[in-house]
Amino acid sequence: MTDLSGRVAVITGAARGIGHATAARFLEAGASVVLADLPGSGVEQVAAALGGPAHGVVCNVTDAVQVADLVRETVRVFGALDIMVANAGIAPAAPFLNLTPEEFRRVVDVNLTGSFLCVQAAAKQMVAQACTGRAPGAIVLMASVQAQSVAETHAAYAASKGGVVQLTKAAAVALAPYGIRVNAVGPGSVTTDLNDEALTPALRRAVAARTPLGRMGRVDEIAQAVLFLASEAGSYVTGQTLYVDGGRLALALTMTDGKDEAE
Ligand SMILES: NC(=O)c1ccc[n+]([C@@H]2O[C@H](COP(=O)([O-])OP(=O)(O)OC[C@H]3O[C@@H](n4cnc5c(N)ncnc54)[C@H](O)[C@@H]3O)[C@@H](O)[C@H]2O)c1
Repeated sequence: MTDLSGRVAVITGAARGIGHATAARFLEAGASVVLADLPGSGVEQVAAALGGPAHGVVCNVTDAVQVADLVRETVRVFGALDIMVANAGIAPAAPFLNLTPEEFRRVVDVNLTGSFLCVQAAAKQMVAQACTGRAPGAIVLMASVQAQSVAETHAAYAASKGGVVQLTKAAAVALAPYGIRVNAVGPGSVTTDLNDEALTPALRRAVAARTPLGRMGRVDEIAQAVLFLASEAGSYVTGQTLYVDGGRLALALTMTDGKDEAE
């Protein structure tokens, strides 16, 4: 059910982290994959290093012209576009009282407007393909547990991810008549190449205390959820956000709160 043979996928923010792991998982599942990322990310070399039918494209998701070019380039290279994973995102920290309007707009521009541009451009291509009889496509956005619960240093990020969850529902409803499914994955705290060294022991302990499974997530665990939603395995799922968070959102307090009293 998770076989992607014959399917063409675009993954944004794919030069590293969750996007990269998703590209690798999709290739294993038989898809042809376009990896998109910023100038300077080395995305072309990253795609070449993956082997298989992978192609790297430089694209800033905040630019509608570049996103339209990304879709065109995908169709030129692989003949169609069946799956869009709008994964590119940024999460800069700023204390709420110091958060500038410019910084707020920048985060929303990448995480929310960028997702919208990718979803809409892909959907136009998928609708055109559906009219020719090709099997309907699927779209997966990248939300976060911070769509539901927030860190005070990440107001813009949390607001943008809350928007991603609602954008997911809006696109799902609009595209359902074409058979196109739209869902999101909401990761908890995931170890990526980038943040692995930045995570202090204290931060790891804080994550563990807030996570029933007691550890950070791995990028392959997020990729697996994206694959479920993008493939036939998720054929009756649309408009949903699947939180892959080790139980974080189910937990009211922390895993250690009240222990002394209970013992
Ligand atoms: N890592 C986590 O703990 C975590 C948790 C929840 C949600 N997420 C979400 O998962 C997604 C991927 O995160 P990650 O941890 O792999 O991050 P990452 O920083 O390792 O990778 C993000 C990629 O997106 C690219 N990117 C940034 N701005 C872009 C733009 N304007 N256009 C195109 N590409 C752009 C970056 O160059 C980078 O390669 C993000 O949307 C993030 O918010 C991550």
